[in-house]
Amino acid sequence: MTATASQNRVLIFDTTLRDGEQSPGATMTLEEKLQIAELLDEMGVDIIEAGFPIASEGDFEAVSKIAKAARNAVICGLARANFADIDRAWEAVKHAKRPRIHTFIGTSPLHREYQVRLDKEAMAERIHATVTHARNLCDDVQWSPMDATRTEHDYLARVCEIAIKAGATTINIPDTVGYTAPGESAAIIRMLLERVPGMDEVTISTHCHNDLGMATANALAAVEAGARQIECTINGLGERAGNTALEEVVMAMRVRNDIMPFETGIDTTKIMQASRLVSTVSGFPVQYNKAIVGKNAFAHESGIHQDGMLKHAGTFEIMRPEDVGLNATSLVMGKHSGRAALRSKLRELGYQIGDNQLSDVFVRFKELADRKKEIYDEDLIALVQDAGTEAAHDRIQVRHLRVVCGTEGPQTADLTLAIDGNEQSVHATGDGPVDAAFNAVKALVSHSARLQLYQVHAVTEGTDAQATVSVRLEENGKIVTGQSSDTDTVVASTRAYVNALNKLLVRRLKTAPDTAAV
Ligand code: KIV
Ligand code: ZN
Repeated sequence: MTATASQNRVLIFDTTLRDGEQSPGATMTLEEKLQIAELLDEMGVDIIEAGFPIASEGDFEAVSKIAKAARNAVICGLARANFADIDRAWEAVKHAKRPRIHTFIGTSPLHREYQVRLDKEAMAERIHATVTHARNLCDDVQWSPMDATRTEHDYLARVCEIAIKAGATTINIPDTVGYTAPGESAAIIRMLLERVPGMDEVTISTHCHNDLGMATANALAAVEAGARQIECTINGLGERAGNTALEEVVMAMRVRNDIMPFETGIDTTKIMQASRLVSTVSGFPVQYNKAIVGKNAFAHESGIHQDGMLKHAGTFEIMRPEDVGLNATSLVMGKHSGRAALRSKLRELGYQIGDNQLSDVFVRFKELADRKKEIYDEDLIALVQDAGTEAAHDRIQVRHLRVVCGTEGPQTADLTLAIDGNEQSVHATGDGPVDAAFNAVKALVSHSARLQLYQVHAVTEGTDAQATVSVRLEENGKIVTGQSSDTDTVVASTRAYVNALNKLLVRRLKTAPDTAAV
């Protein structure tokens, strides 16, 4: 079945797992991708672009697992304009209730000459052949002229017509390099609707990048001109300056429905949960003043604003925090709260977790309650996300850590790790406690991965707050991000480092099993 768009219904096509994951450093594991896909499906995303199946075995596996698991969403796999890519994409998505193949080719003069090396005629033939091939496999085929906004209008109209005649059911117009502006974005859609026979019978899609900060405006302008699918990512994750942010276009159409009378199927109360999950998994923090999902998006600091808010929230608030799933920070529970209370609180926060994970989170909750006086929603969210990052089957596990730090060096760390079940200990020094702990890890787990990012942020206010630490490692071009939270920043740092190393080992096992020994 093809996802069709009714007159005012705008389809939301989420590409967090494909274009978002392409962003350097945002690599996700299979489990993380499945978790994100499940949430996207649950929140009402119409189409999930789950990956680029020919890119690697890992991508293929992720797309096919997501295809099998999806309940409502169309599951889409990306393919370049060749039969091998298209066949691989089909193999990966074919078990979905609603599969889609998305095939693309760069149509602008620069792409034709330097990237694809095809002249206009040869490219036109390639488009016809590949879209026909995709359509013979799948009823739902999306075609994209990459760099459309820098493609000559005559040629763009011609190739869109070819793709439609060959059976494409969605024509996506990408602003690949984030070059267009709202007026032009709308004009291109109108031009295509005017000139291309059959353009009004397919779904027109818009795919914008944010290089000039206009991705949201450009996508909405395209919708006003007739596009009925927006390609976007959670938190605007994506290459360079990112893609159109899902939360921005969805909330813009909702809040300004008077001037943008379009509907989506998104349950907006799941937006914050999706934002947190993608930020945790990708290791890309959300900027504080980011629209909709930033920490400050609903914070009113100035006296005039606070006074107005107290008198009437509408004075300075155009949407309610709860509309995007943001509940006022509340003191949740104390150390005497039981499992049932924890389960119900987590459900309220949008986390439906199974019995095993609940037991794990409960143990961590009790430990945290012993150390931290007040436990807030954010603490619980960090615990759930932490439980997702550390697994009993991890090959490397932190057993014991003691650091010595202070004004007189050297700072030292005594660390015991269980590596494949065998406990090993070491004493290391460093320039500060985190450096000492990292040196200790490295002494026990020798590797050549380069530390690309070490980042700490406090989950809540106060000096007893948990710290969430992200550690990004790069090895032979493969990038992984580890995360952990703890009230002890050095413990969280060490666990995050070990978490990243465990992910590297999983990758090595898949790509070069003979190098996977620790
Ligand atoms: O930006 C782009 O052009 C893309 C295409 C693959 C649609 O991501
Ligand atoms: Zn893109």
